[in-house]
Amino acid sequence: MSIAAIKGMNDILPGEVETWQFLERSAREVFGLYGFSEIRTPVPEKTELFCRSIGETTDIVEKEMYTFDDKSENSLTLRPEGTAPVMRSFIQNRLHNLDPVSKLYYMGPMFRYERPQKGRYRQFHQLGVEVVGVEDAKIDAQVLAMLHQYFIRIGIDTVSLQVNSLGCPDCRPGYRQELISYLEERLSDLCPECQRRYLNNPLRVLDCKAQGCQAATVDAPSVIDHLCSSCSDHFSKVQFYLKALKIPYEVNARMVRGLDYYVRTTFELVTDQLGSQNAVAAGGRYDGLVESLGGPPLPGIGFAIGLERLVLMKGEQRITADGPQIFIAARGEDASERAFVLMSQLQSAGVRAEMDYLGKSIKAQMRRANKLNATFSLVLGEEELQTGQAQLKDMSDSSHSTIALDDLVDVLTKKLAEYSTSA
Ligand code: HAM
Repeated sequence: MSIAAIKGMNDILPGEVETWQFLERSAREVFGLYGFSEIRTPVPEKTELFCRSIGETTDIVEKEMYTFDDKSENSLTLRPEGTAPVMRSFIQNRLHNLDPVSKLYYMGPMFRYERPQKGRYRQFHQLGVEVVGVEDAKIDAQVLAMLHQYFIRIGIDTVSLQVNSLGCPDCRPGYRQELISYLEERLSDLCPECQRRYLNNPLRVLDCKAQGCQAATVDAPSVIDHLCSSCSDHFSKVQFYLKALKIPYEVNARMVRGLDYYVRTTFELVTDQLGSQNAVAAGGRYDGLVESLGGPPLPGIGFAIGLERLVLMKGEQRITADGPQIFIAARGEDASERAFVLMSQLQSAGVRAEMDYLGKSIKAQMRRANKLNATFSLVLGEEELQTGQAQLKDMSDSSHSTIALDDLVDVLTKKLAEYSTSA
């Protein structure tokens, strides 16, 4: 019996991977413009890292982590997100000594044991960024401007930005208490999950999709009305800069995040194209996180984009691979040998070249050249070997030109250069 992949974990096949490469390449380009450098951290980390940063009472830590003991009985976890590992590395490698402002980005697989559905997987991929060292609201707006720019670059304009402020350790406890009192009076209207978690994690109730919870929290106290003056001032400045940069947004005071490390600014980029998995990207500030993990007291902010969700949104606009620039069809063994050498010379000269290895008829070889979307083709037979000349066919208009086989590399590279300037 053949073996299938693990549920919720997908292959990315040729034909699909080109869209992924485009999205990744665009991220490198855009993030590079804003001064971000890539960081790569291991996929597993010590379990404790995620418990301490994401929070013991979050869904991720309570039920979604891929946690296992290695052979030395160390508890390890496949990273469910990228912020905690990047902060672990930041602290361990003392990156703050290299530059007071660290701008980092990463891309790679994350793991959460969630119920798989469209847009939600157990292995998924994030494009993430983190900035450590700046409290100024300009950096909040800068990070959001970069996210906005990225979506322009990849040609997706069906997303909207929602922002909120979750306050800080000074003002959030008061708000939290008020929310708990409000929820206590409506406990019987809440779903069993929220009845269980309202004391430990009352903000999550605002985010619950259950109708009863939504109805019960319509008039719930708003976090924005409970911000202390410095959080309120920070949030006003973020909005001032967003307006100055002409970045459209709306304030959503009910937006809470599923990770405990957030303070002040939080945000989501949402779409109505993906059903219930409507967040394409999300992030926010985590000013206490670096210190709580044993590092210096530095503020941080970042976001992560869900790559699978972007690929779903790109849908019809899929990117296709470039076909060969020349397909050399050969009739007979001698011609096939010559075609093989010519193809290798072309490839060494930077030309995408292809040929047949299966001994197919010329007709079948030309069908393949067409299917692969080759720019030029060339047929080699006995006569061509004898005269040292062949017909180079431009596949776009079927025009032919005679070409000396010894000059093929030079002539073809010139033709291709003309082609790309006229395209
Ligand atoms: P998050 O909201 O948990 O935040 O995830 C960010 C994005 O990853 C989501 O908006 C979604 O697009 C994608 N995502 C999450 N779970 C799945 C899944 N099971 N399947 C497919 N896509 C998924 C974080 O992870 C934070 N570390 C973001 C951040 C960076 N905050 C500050 N810096």
